[in-house]
Amino acid sequence: MAAPGHRGSPVAVLAVAAALVVSSCLRPAAAEQGEDKGGEEEAQRQQRYNFRFVRHARDAPLVSHFNYIVVGGGTAGCPLAATLSEHSRVLLLERGGYPYGNRNVSSEYHFADALADTSPRSPAQRFVSEDGVVNARARVLGGGSCLNAGFYTRASGEYVRAAGWDARLVNASYRWVEKELVFRPDVPKWQCALREGLLQAGVTPDNGYTFDHVPGTKIGGTIFDSTGRRHTAADFLRTANPRRLTVFLHATVSQILFRHREGSAKPVAYGVVFTDPMGVQHRVYLRGGGKSEVILAAGTLGSPQLLMLSGVGPRGQLEKHGIRTVMDHPMVGQGVADNPMNSVFVPSPVPVTLSLVQIVGVTRFGSFIEGVSGSQFGIPLHASGVRRRSHTFGMFSPMTGQLGTLPPSERTPEAMRRAADAMRDPIFSYGSHLLIRETWTPVSASHLAMEPSLRISGRCVRRTYSVTAHHGRVRPDVAAFTSTVAAPLPSCRAAAASPCATAASVADSPCATASSVADSPCTTAASILGPLSTGHIELRSTDPRANPAVTFNYFKDPKDVERCVRGIETIERVVRSRAFSRFTYANATAMDAAFDRAKLANFLNLLPRHPRDTRPLQQYCRDTVMTIWHYHGGCHVGPVVDQDYRVIGVEGLRVVDSSTFKYSPGTNPQATVMMLGR
Ligand SMILES: Cc1cc2nc3c(=O)[nH]c(=O)nc-3n(C[C@H](O)[C@H](O)[C@H](O)COP(=O)(O)OP(=O)(O)OC[C@H]3O[C@@H](n4cnc5c(N)ncnc54)[C@H](O)[C@@H]3O)c2cc1C
Ligand SMILES: *[C@@H]1O[C@H](CO)[C@@H](O)[C@H](O)[C@H]1NC(C)=O
Ligand SMILES: *[C@@H]1O[C@H](CO)[C@@H](O)[C@H](O)[C@H]1NC(C)=O
Ligand SMILES: *[C@@H]1O[C@H](CO)[C@@H](O)[C@H](O)[C@H]1NC(C)=O
Repeated sequence: MAAPGHRGSPVAVLAVAAALVVSSCLRPAAAEQGEDKGGEEEAQRQQRYNFRFVRHARDAPLVSHFNYIVVGGGTAGCPLAATLSEHSRVLLLERGGYPYGNRNVSSEYHFADALADTSPRSPAQRFVSEDGVVNARARVLGGGSCLNAGFYTRASGEYVRAAGWDARLVNASYRWVEKELVFRPDVPKWQCALREGLLQAGVTPDNGYTFDHVPGTKIGGTIFDSTGRRHTAADFLRTANPRRLTVFLHATVSQILFRHREGSAKPVAYGVVFTDPMGVQHRVYLRGGGKSEVILAAGTLGSPQLLMLSGVGPRGQLEKHGIRTVMDHPMVGQGVADNPMNSVFVPSPVPVTLSLVQIVGVTRFGSFIEGVSGSQFGIPLHASGVRRRSHTFGMFSPMTGQLGTLPPSERTPEAMRRAADAMRDPIFSYGSHLLIRETWTPVSASHLAMEPSLRISGRCVRRTYSVTAHHGRVRPDVAAFTSTVAAPLPSCRAAAASPCATAASVADSPCATASSVADSPCTTAASILGPLSTGHIELRSTDPRANPAVTFNYFKDPKDVERCVRGIETIERVVRSRAFSRFTYANATAMDAAFDRAKLANFLNLLPRHPRDTRPLQQYCRDTVMTIWHYHGGCHVGPVVDQDYRVIGVEGLRVVDSSTFKYSPGTNPQATVMMLGR
């Protein structure tokens, strides 16, 4: 991996990017081919990750003993269990399944598929906060790192100081994480334009490629490698001592067991109860003698929920559910927060490459600007794939619940279905315009066999879809993808020089720029804290598999609103910048000519303040709020756990995960969650 801290001049960076687009063009296919081959490569990977110590919960003994019981095999739990196994016998209990061999997890191009999958087997468990914002939590070995957008960035120096962490140990732990998991992204042109645009919009200085959290614009790391394959926290288990670690999957912990030890006033955790998918209960006890503890790493929702289910929480709430109070802990589940995300869709006159978050602008007023391009993720880029194209539409897909066109209170399942239908039918969305979209993918023999009409040049295939429309509705045969273009066929080189296109769909040409409005005191530039608005988690039932009730109170604090407004204003400056001009329409007339904006507006947040949108920006922020999935808190350091993450008032129990954060670290938290686990 290249060393962070590269600082190219803007010109140099653009030149590099142009070169990288070539690999971006070939990249998705490389990943797909691996899968197509039926996977020699995949088999090798499987081998590599065929951890002997990972087993199904139904094969677990009814009673077992370990020194450490880690509850939750997620982003923090995996590095934690791997680390502890160096010296102790460790059991890791994860309610979800295996992440390997599931492309909804392992492929960048299937980002939205996992989030859209609401089945009980999905690696993502959907939840809707009391605010009405649709959200997701992980249910898979590797946790949120199996679902996330991959962006990797450290916490600021100030955050580390405020947390009271040993800075040297923190750095060593980040480096350990980075060696295992983090890559430098191939930055396509759209992301380059975003970067230049941010600089031109005043989000300076240019910090090049770095993991450091500093004001300005930078390229961050990613857990997706150059083939688009996701590396997850589960990969850390490779570093574990296989003789000392046991992992049970599909093991849902329902209770932490406490007893009173003679001579100690405090209840002591001595084990846990977990249930396998057959409903059989298993008990695990801590081994006496030497160090032994239960450590919760069940995430922001899971850890407070499990504490409460085990009798550690606000007494009133526990009584409401008939749970015997072990320790009245009023702050368990309090102070939960989620960083609001407000996005602006920027339709592009030229096709754009698929990309998740690579560039971030860290403003001095507490907003972070991030962008994703080519909303259509999940398109299998081989011939047969054309016929089973994605129905999930990418990062801002109503299928995943990211419906920014309606206020949260109106985001009903029915509304999400309607928006998805609108996106599914290109004609409905585009009205009566003729659409021509192109996609470039490497050639394989199967392409030729299956789509003889494809035109080949060098190693790239040019596939052009033209779709004609008849006033809102279309005859199905016309809607089917057809071939051929009038334009002269450029060489593969020329194709590479123009940005790689995504396949045909309404969703792929408009680009989204998301402003993750996370917050920081406006005065101290280096520390990004927040948001300031917080809420709470309460039990809804005593079923450990059910979601608790979560309230985030987005934008309750007016300062959060102000940050959002300034963030949106910055996005407007980016979009109007010289650097961004080739990815925007020159003016509204030009855009209206290309799109039926009234219909487009059904499911896209266009720039606010266009003639039809008279909402002030404050209202725009509240109405379009979505999640960037950086929720945290519920077991804060201070009121719930001490500086060493021990649960206050009981013994033998710690919490180590995102629930301990008062503020989300850096622009994106996963680096720090993994570092904490280590
Ligand atoms: C869609 C999405 C996009 C994101 N994008 C980014 C990004 O680009 N960059 C970034 O830095 N961060 C991103 N994040 C945030 C980041 O991934 C999370 O903050 C992080 O994964 C949280 O880690 P955690 O260890 O606290 O919880 P998790 O990783 O969620 O781990 C908790 C684990 O505990 C298990 N569990 C819960 N309850 C029980 C129980 N009772 N018994 C057994 N097991 C249980 C769960 O199944 C889960 O595996 C994103 C998150 C999501 C969901
Ligand atoms: C992947 O996600 C899609 C869409 O949500 C779903 O239909 C499919 O079953 C999932 N595949 C796997 C292997 O889980
Ligand atoms: C830790 O790393 C950061 C860069 O990420 C650096 O600024 C800081 O000085 C380092 N701290 C220590 C104690 O090494
Ligand atoms: C807007 O764009 C259209 C089409 O590109 C162009 O003809 C027109 O002159 C532009 N109008 C203005 C005011 O720039």
